[in-house]
Amino acid sequence: MKARLQNRKIVLGVSGGIAAYKACTLCRLLVKLGADVHVVMTEAATHLVGKATFEALSGHPVGVEIFSQAQRISHISLVKDADLMIIAPATANTLAKFTAGIADNLMTAAFLAATCPVAVAPAMNVNMYRNAATQENIQTLKRRGVYVLNPASGPLACGVNAEGRLPEPEEICEFICTILGERLTLKVDPLLPKPQKPLELMQTKLLNPAFGAGLKVLITAGPTIEDLDPVRFISNRSSGKMGYALALAFKNCGAEVTLVSGPVNIKAPEGVKLVCVRSAQDMLTAVDSLAGEQDIVVGAAAVADYRSLSVAKDKIKKQDGVDELCLHLIKNPDIIASVGMREVNRPYTVGFAAETSHTEENAQSKLIRKHLDLIVLNNVAKKEIGFDSNDNEVTVFNKDGKVAHFKTQPKSIIAERLVKLIIESFKACL
Ligand code: C5P
Repeated sequence: MKARLQNRKIVLGVSGGIAAYKACTLCRLLVKLGADVHVVMTEAATHLVGKATFEALSGHPVGVEIFSQAQRISHISLVKDADLMIIAPATANTLAKFTAGIADNLMTAAFLAATCPVAVAPAMNVNMYRNAATQENIQTLKRRGVYVLNPASGPLACGVNAEGRLPEPEEICEFICTILGERLTLKVDPLLPKPQKPLELMQTKLLNPAFGAGLKVLITAGPTIEDLDPVRFISNRSSGKMGYALALAFKNCGAEVTLVSGPVNIKAPEGVKLVCVRSAQDMLTAVDSLAGEQDIVVGAAAVADYRSLSVAKDKIKKQDGVDELCLHLIKNPDIIASVGMREVNRPYTVGFAAETSHTEENAQSKLIRKHLDLIVLNNVAKKEIGFDSNDNEVTVFNKDGKVAHFKTQPKSIIAERLVKLIIESFKACL
């Protein structure tokens, strides 16, 4: 079979249910599919299956305790580059600890530290499974973006025939592949539960759907239009694509997003609050009234630098014998700088710099001048990226210098990577 999980790091958590023996087959299947499997067990699980079995199957040491001198496996490094963490079987006790945020062993600590998608396969006695505490814990975890594979019905170790069985390893494997965007054709009937909400949200393997939960984010996007008279205006070629892609990516990782947008020809993503504006002054008014309640503000709008001193009430007429028309332009307010300079309720502030020359120096001086936390530079002199194109290539700076470079790729992917970087940088400042 083709190695469908090639280059995937999967953390397999085994807690102390009798079904722990099935996790051995699951581990073997995942390895066979090419995954790099790292097993973490609870102490209880080690009474049911030996660590040595998983060490032999996965080819890696198996972690149990946080402070074990012998193991030296850190809960952080365990999940750091993981594509997925799956707990199979997940006992009532482990589910309760996950829900409460308890980190008293290597598995529960790794769960709290995980930013990758996390899946659990509850398996236990039917009464423990039906208990209101377990049910509420499962619901809470689902709400927080954890994927839950419902237990199967059948003979349980306690002798009754009811729900609570760990699904067969092949089914758990299919569940994992589905989450990771891979499809496996199985000989057994698929028992895959209906995709829960996070599945449709997880359009990227980079983002945990709950990564931005609870964050309020405002994004400015599109051009502004500065009227000269009732029919003419000054504007620019911004399509709004980058700002709208950022809004979608922030929304997809659970943030509450407000998009303050100049006139564009694209639809705002579902679930995003859209505030439509026209001029830079309208945009400033909208941003000013909302910025204080945001955690993060991103200025992706191409705001017109100047506007006409006055807007003619009637259409400006061509005059016979007059070959020149002088427009008196005045500077527009700098919206993102006004956010960056807020003295109270200042959100984490991110700006964009569209540059054509001395790009890095210009971006870095803009970061300082506008009091930004991060600036995203794109070189608009390059034809294939920037204004109105579907692709972009960006470099990100903070006050200490370059923090990331994302090579040319679709704006949607750039947006997802930027969102991850922005949220991580924001959280690091808390
Ligand atoms: O100064 P410049 O226009 O190059 O700066 C770009 C950054 O500043 C972008 O983040 C843009 O959204 C923001 N900006 C703004 N208000 C302006 C001009 C730019 O918010 N008047």
